[in-house]
Amino acid sequence: MSKKILILPGDGIGQEVTSSALQILEFIVDKFNLDFSTKILDVGGTAYEKFGSPIPEDVLVSAKEADAILFGAVGAPKWDSLEWDKRPEQALLTLRKELDLFANLRPAFLFNELADASSLKKGVIEDLDILIVRELTGGLYFGEPRGIDKSVTPAFGFNTMRYDADEINRIAKIAFEASQKRKNKVCSVDKANVLEVSRFWRETVTDLHNKNFSSQELSHMLADNAAMQLVIDPNQFDVILASNLFGDILSDIAATLTGSIGMLPSASLDSSFKGMYEPCHGSAPDIAQQDIANPLAMIGSLSMALKYSLGEEMVASKIDLAIKNLIKQGFRTKDISNGENYLKTSEVAQKIIENIENE
Ligand code: IPM
Ligand code: MG
Repeated sequence: MSKKILILPGDGIGQEVTSSALQILEFIVDKFNLDFSTKILDVGGTAYEKFGSPIPEDVLVSAKEADAILFGAVGAPKWDSLEWDKRPEQALLTLRKELDLFANLRPAFLFNELADASSLKKGVIEDLDILIVRELTGGLYFGEPRGIDKSVTPAFGFNTMRYDADEINRIAKIAFEASQKRKNKVCSVDKANVLEVSRFWRETVTDLHNKNFSSQELSHMLADNAAMQLVIDPNQFDVILASNLFGDILSDIAATLTGSIGMLPSASLDSSFKGMYEPCHGSAPDIAQQDIANPLAMIGSLSMALKYSLGEEMVASKIDLAIKNLIKQGFRTKDISNGENYLKTSEVAQKIIENIENE
């Protein structure tokens, strides 16, 4: 039966980078005779402008039917003053929650040729290869009660950081299992010195480790220290396990270390490995429609979709190799170039395709 791919380009550079990934998708479908059906729908601010909602009902219906979703990016300052449920980010948050995409995998790896693009010294950053496993459907992002209360003085806003044992166990299991294919090391991040929810997180991860994963190395680190360690000596990490909010912050740091946040893909999976795939970067309205965005994170996300949700690991590895070769050949998009000679967004897909042809 044909596998269903839903494509949600979203806003800003989301549209441009998704268009590059689509060109490659069309090419591999043809070349490797893949049985995929695709559908493209609007989300985010773009959908709000057309339909009055950042996530129209048919998006959710199609998302639930899809084997994999490619998501570009959403948001722009012009929609910041909209009511909460109309804001572009709601598209992302609703999809994550409704599809139970609790496991967010954010790899941060350096192409050594790009070491000079990093803000860190070459010797510190070389060979970087970290995987951040971020819990994505719980914690402070979704905890109840939440709200803003203006009926009292002073008015106040509040959120709840809550994790139950099942939520912690299922994401910790993903982190331990991922580490088995890597360097067997998991560092779990929390604020156990301040927050009860973190103390419980630490206890639960430790119990799971003792019970099922004692041959993996487990360490615990406070979130502020983890942020600092990522900048001082990122290579000490293999897999970082983090709650929703801490994982959000740490993954931006980790991604930027690699030279450009425009390079890194991510996967958000449910328990049956259906998933949504998106670049770690945002919609970058400041550079939208200039044909200068880096589509490699989106192309890498397509590769992750092929690997985890579409059963095409071999094709995924061909795309990964083509990206590596493109960098080796010296092609650079503007964000990682010297600012003079660079490849336009719309030229990248063709170069990737040529590389796949030549492999
Ligand atoms: C991310 C983003 C989102 C998040 C925003 C856009 C809601 O920063 O995917 O990291 O905070 O999860
Ligand atoms: Mg983020």
